[in-house]
Amino acid sequence: MAGRVAIVTGGARGIGGASAIEFASRGADVVIGDILPREKAAETIGKIEALGRRVAYLESDVREQNANVALVDAAVQQFGRVDYVLCNAGSGLRRPFVELEAADARRIFDIIFWAGYYLSQAAAKRMIEQGGGGSIVFISSVHSVRGYANAVAYNAAKAAVNHMARTIALELAPHKIRANWIEPGWIDTPGERILFGDKMVDEGGQHLLWGRLGKPEEIGQGVAYLCEADYVTGYGLRIDGGYTLPRPS
Ligand SMILES: NC(=O)c1ccc[n+]([C@@H]2O[C@H](COP(=O)([O-])OP(=O)(O)OC[C@H]3O[C@@H](n4cnc5c(N)ncnc54)[C@H](O)[C@@H]3O)[C@@H](O)[C@H]2O)c1
Repeated sequence: MAGRVAIVTGGARGIGGASAIEFASRGADVVIGDILPREKAAETIGKIEALGRRVAYLESDVREQNANVALVDAAVQQFGRVDYVLCNAGSGLRRPFVELEAADARRIFDIIFWAGYYLSQAAAKRMIEQGGGGSIVFISSVHSVRGYANAVAYNAAKAAVNHMARTIALELAPHKIRANWIEPGWIDTPGERILFGDKMVDEGGQHLLWGRLGKPEEIGQGVAYLCEADYVTGYGLRIDGGYTLPRPS
């Protein structure tokens, strides 16, 4: 990835942070867009710089189309190009379907579906213009293929992401721009600890087939694979420690 440039949304911490570090460890410079203030991303930024790579950090709400265009502009202005894009920023909401307000469901679609739409489109335009292909990866979820209760908007938005990626892959193949997605199982990130609490996350792994939660770095490695794999497009890579395997009752 030497001389290449990656954009990562939600890259301050968690899966996005680990992926940004993985990009840097393979030689890419990184543009991070995250709603958190820069100081909350100090650890991630420090690790990228320690690897000798450049990092641009933009405090941005990627639910806004302009924020995504600004990320692409920053990559071009500061580092000269865009090669890899990771649409990762996300958050969930647990609420029974019959109690879920439509406005709340729409907000989930804004961050899970629309943010990815805006960034992948802005980046694809730039990749077509610069030539030489590129790679777009979406962080989806095992929720995209299974209907976990109390998460209807999140589940549906993640399923929409998968199908968006498939369609983009078809349309952009002539430009050698690839689009893939990852379906993580349960991954130990700051976001999960805020949503479920430390106790549930610490003890939850015992109930999983693999005996532990996944690590953000394990998703980051999958992201890097998809970015480097020139013959892989329109593909969903499940990294879930067998979470979705049917198990004997
Ligand atoms: N952790 C899991 O178990 C798991 C499983 C499947 C899928 N995912 C997906 O992985 C992605 C990352 O989740 P995570 O677990 O690392 O969460 P996290 O909360 O630890 O990290 C998410 C990052 O996204 C940022 N973000 C949130 N809203 C934003 C916005 N509007 N604009 C810009 N940045 C924003 C946050 O500030 C944070 O830095 C999400 O799309 C999530 O749905 C997570």
